[in-house]
Amino acid sequence: MPDIHGYRAARARLVEAIAVAIALEGCCHDVVQPIGEECLELQDADDACPSEDEAAAALEVELVLAPGEKWPAREYVDGNTTYTIPAECCYEAAETARECWGSNCHGFGRPLLVGPVAAKPDVRVRATQWAISARTCPRTDELSPTARRYLGNVWLERALAEHAAVASFAVFISELLTLGAPPSLLRAARLAGAQESAHAELCFAIASAYAGESWEAAPWDPPRPETPVSPVTFTERLVIEGCFSETIGVAELAARAAHATDRGVQRALRRLTADETGHAALAWRTLAWIIRVHPETRDAAVSALRRAAETLVVTEGVGARSPALEKHGELSRPARARIHRSAFDEIVIPSARRAGLFAGTMKRDEALL
Ligand SMILES: [Fe+2]
Ligand SMILES: [Fe+2]
Repeated sequence: MPDIHGYRAARARLVEAIAVAIALEGCCHDVVQPIGEECLELQDADDACPSEDEAAAALEVELVLAPGEKWPAREYVDGNTTYTIPAECCYEAAETARECWGSNCHGFGRPLLVGPVAAKPDVRVRATQWAISARTCPRTDELSPTARRYLGNVWLERALAEHAAVASFAVFISELLTLGAPPSLLRAARLAGAQESAHAELCFAIASAYAGESWEAAPWDPPRPETPVSPVTFTERLVIEGCFSETIGVAELAARAAHATDRGVQRALRRLTADETGHAALAWRTLAWIIRVHPETRDAAVSALRRAAETLVVTEGVGARSPALEKHGELSRPARARIHRSAFDEIVIPSARRAGLFAGTMKRDEALL
């Protein structure tokens, strides 16, 4: 398999963390997919390139990702015939597409699932500017307005998911108390919840740096589980929200961190990767505990994992991502799909085996049939 943007470098760390510690529909967003270069002929060779909005309208494409690159008139010889190619401006055209992933979406905190849907707060404009460390501040001066808008929305989605993760850990802690979990798990869950809050703050600050206006979460009354917790319902949520979503999320985060060349984004992604590795490990450790004290939860865990596996997206092909977006840690859709599937096969399944979900000799397909 070709290099999947550094994912493998992080795999050993994550597998080790889980070993030591021992989605679903409803999470959709619009993604920008580059669709290739498109050029506009200039009527007058001295004209400047049309703006991005004007070019998108003239080319009849949804949007273009960067200012046009101007090519002067030039000659092209084919046999005995010489053609003149007029001056033109070329743009990277793109379109938006609705994309639905597993419950983890763009966010890398633990999702707060209400049925199959990941609940999230609304956003509002903040009265004061976010303070952002120079170490994690992205460089925006080389980005087009469209790319800034896109990256702002990506980090906003991430910020809202991290904010929702604070609520998800609050539910998790309360359920751990109900089920009589040991203090070590409670302490680790409290630390993870506090880290999700710090992640939300970091992501809102980065989103706002791209967008040029300060965003924050609006006041929010997070939904709570409708039925009292039981070992089985606890296990189902744990497998989907923690073991599956956070593990897959770490794999993607690590790949994005390895891929990004913008220093601020790279540092932010590395920090998220380190913390989320601990969260994924905590989820697996909790699963091992609940299966040990309530062996009847094993079947529920296996079927939850099976449902989660069905949400893995299969997207073949090479895929394309604007170089400007790649510098800021964005991955193509096929690359993300490959990372998710590899992480499932190489991290989730071995960890499930280690946590006692199914027999050690059982292969992935047998386990999930
Ligand atoms: Fe997080
Ligand atoms: Fe997390």
